[in-house]
Amino acid sequence: MVFFPLEKIHLLYDGYQKAFQVGRLNLLLIQSDGTPYLIENRCPHMDVALTTATQLPGNKLRCRAHGIEFELESGRPQGPLANTLDCLKKYPISFDGNVLGIELDAN
Ligand code: FES
Repeated sequence: MVFFPLEKIHLLYDGYQKAFQVGRLNLLLIQSDGTPYLIENRCPHMDVALTTATQLPGNKLRCRAHGIEFELESGRPQGPLANTLDCLKKYPISFDGNVLGIELDAN
């Protein structure tokens, strides 16, 4: 496994939201209620990037395209289309000293 650094921990704050490209992965790093989340930067509804999605109270993220909300903790969509959509794709966060990132296979 190879560690890919994304951000220094002290630069995170509630409301932080930034997109990263790591190889072929398009990622979105978010901090909400003191917890960092690393998700695929793609809405499961119609594949729109979530870079400008709105963070909501209760660890939720609202896609700007059509307003669907997702729970960050579980990744589950909310609302009437919830049963027809996939969850947000989440990635485990790794740490190396004071840096947060992602570990991926070297291949
Ligand atoms: S593309 Fe995100 S809600 Fe439709």
